[in-house]
Amino acid sequence: AVVTAEKSWVRIVTGQTPTNIAVIKYWGKRDENLILPINDSISVTLDPNHLCTTTTVAVSPAFDKDRMWLNGKEISLAGDRFQNCLREIRKRATDVEEEEKGIKIAKKDWENLHVHIASYNNFPTAAGLASSAAGLACLVFSLARLMNVKEDQGQLSAIARQGSGSACRSLYGGFVKWIMGKSEDGSDSFAVQVTDEKHWDDLVILIAVVSSQQKETSSTSGMRESVETSLLLKHRAQEIVPKRILQMEEAIKNKDFPSFARLTCADSNQFHATCLDTTPPIFYMNDTSHKIISIVEKWNRAETTPQVAYTFDAGPNAVLIARDRKAATQLLQRMLYYFPPGADADLNSFVVGDKSILQDAGIKEMKDVESLPLPPEYNSTQKYAGAVSYFICTRPGQGPIVLSDETQALLNPETGLPK
Ligand code: DP6
Repeated sequence: AVVTAEKSWVRIVTGQTPTNIAVIKYWGKRDENLILPINDSISVTLDPNHLCTTTTVAVSPAFDKDRMWLNGKEISLAGDRFQNCLREIRKRATDVEEEEKGIKIAKKDWENLHVHIASYNNFPTAAGLASSAAGLACLVFSLARLMNVKEDQGQLSAIARQGSGSACRSLYGGFVKWIMGKSEDGSDSFAVQVTDEKHWDDLVILIAVVSSQQKETSSTSGMRESVETSLLLKHRAQEIVPKRILQMEEAIKNKDFPSFARLTCADSNQFHATCLDTTPPIFYMNDTSHKIISIVEKWNRAETTPQVAYTFDAGPNAVLIARDRKAATQLLQRMLYYFPPGADADLNSFVVGDKSILQDAGIKEMKDVESLPLPPEYNSTQKYAGAVSYFICTRPGQGPIVLSDETQALLNPETGLPK
């Protein structure tokens, strides 16, 4: 009876972690196993209210192996990247005591205890919106809390890095720099915060989720091929990025939007140029992506100062960063003019996230989209209905948090199994 009582407890922790989008790109590793990059990178963290991963982790003496569920489906934890993260966190586990539940775990017990992990993205995984960055960051962050790991956020970022490079930048809100580091063991390759999310809160972010049938090359294999074959990537990493990183940090600190926009667009375009320079070439952007670039470039040139920056990761989706709400409203009007929803789409599911931008743009129903005027700087009235699947309105956001309300947990606090 004593043994049963001892076996009955479950300790759970739920964390929530944002995604991030790089404005100076990470592309290329110098160590595949430790995930060490060939250049520094800088990202902006996206508001977790619109894009985030929630992860509940549980430990109990009743569990007989480590298990994980993603969006409700059990997945394997056998991969090296999961195993590296689990091992590094377990190594740093310390004593835990939860008196109300009668839980007492000594540091050495963690080696023999198994964990259950349930993870959920509040956005479609298939949309290609950095789900692995938020996911791995959340796994590491939540496990660290479960196991009472004392390491600071920077040291946790170096563990998340071993799950997916870009994940290390999701351990902070605002603008974040991943320092590439020099050492072979990776100990100096981690993320630091450049400024928090309140520093530059004028910015508004609009994501165009672009329709595509094409199966994309994964970032992991794409960057491996670029490192092996692209001389442009080598030049970029050695000569271009170090200077750009300094300029970008200055632009962010000074809230200098013209410099920020110039650097962000140039870096996205150069990243895609290194993909083209890879043998065989890799194409991540499609015709819709190119059309979006033309629209933004033309508008920025027609204004006295840039209104919007664009950036694209390893896929066709556009992330558009507007200087303020007014620019975001005008951007949304332009985007909806050229990329209205396809047949039988409804406005409510076509523009998601912070819908107040839609209100500011005076768009309440589909007929308001149909009667949008031709933007003054253009002469083409050709529209591309259905080319964008939907838009997400968001902004820079905060870093990881613990959700202490157990009703938000994804695992049952009694059984440690998915709810
Ligand atoms: C284009 O972090 O997904 O989004 O480290 O192999 O997991 P792995 O790659 P990943 O690559 C991201 C590449 C990028 C640029 C960026 O986020 O900096």
